[in-house]
Amino acid sequence: MIGVFDSGYGGLTVFKPLAEKFPKYDFIYFGDNARAPYGSRSQEEIHKYTRQAVDWLSKNGCELVILACNTASSQALRKIQQETPDIKVLGVLILVAEAVAKLDGKIGILATKATVESGAYVREIQKLNAVEHPMFNILQVATPLLVPLIEAGKIDGPEIKEAIREYLKEFERGGIKNIILGCTHYPLIKDLIQAELPDAKIFESPSVIPASLKNYLSRHPEIEKHLSKNDVRRYITTGDPEKFSKFAKEFLNMEIVAEKIVL
Ligand code: DGL
Repeated sequence: MIGVFDSGYGGLTVFKPLAEKFPKYDFIYFGDNARAPYGSRSQEEIHKYTRQAVDWLSKNGCELVILACNTASSQALRKIQQETPDIKVLGVLILVAEAVAKLDGKIGILATKATVESGAYVREIQKLNAVEHPMFNILQVATPLLVPLIEAGKIDGPEIKEAIREYLKEFERGGIKNIILGCTHYPLIKDLIQAELPDAKIFESPSVIPASLKNYLSRHPEIEKHLSKNDVRRYITTGDPEKFSKFAKEFLNMEIVAEKIVL
């Protein structure tokens, strides 16, 4: 079983292409909606909550867990990998950094406050391509208003458009043409971001993660052979299961029934 974890709805943007590209594999999606957003929380809290979710997923049959949450990846991944060597835990952030590290020109990163403050994207991109991308070519903007609006289902309308316009002003001033959506919630509002900066090229986890997972599984047959393949899909939320089912149904375009758990 493969676990896909996010603080809330955002990881569905990663889960959708994964479930499509790996139809036979069994998946559990886990959204910690009751405690989202994570982006303005402390590292201790982000680690504690992510660890609880990873433990739950492991106890419920997941041999592999993907943190489809940049905030959890930047603040908790390394520690959890050290603490739980028996569960394979991967994070979206490094996979996206690998995909953009060879780009020319300036890179703009939109992410939560916690991800920006961790400096993880800048660090990973520089590690991969230090010459072409010294620090001054990467501009990060923390966007704390976006996730609460998305979790509230406000993925269109004047409030979120206004917030996006404000956040993107810095990229416009800086002449940034390559933008990383450094939060898995943001692909849900990608069209609004693109409309604001029509010439920008947008990079996001949903378009790179399936290929990265395929590559990972081919390099790790010892993990791949343990993953069950019965086309099972479970949806777990710590929040309101009806609200989750409604949102996920619209986004995934299929009937789903979410299960509520308390951590
Ligand atoms: N979707 C998450 C991310 O990729 C977390 C957003 C949040 O909970 O603040 O960063």
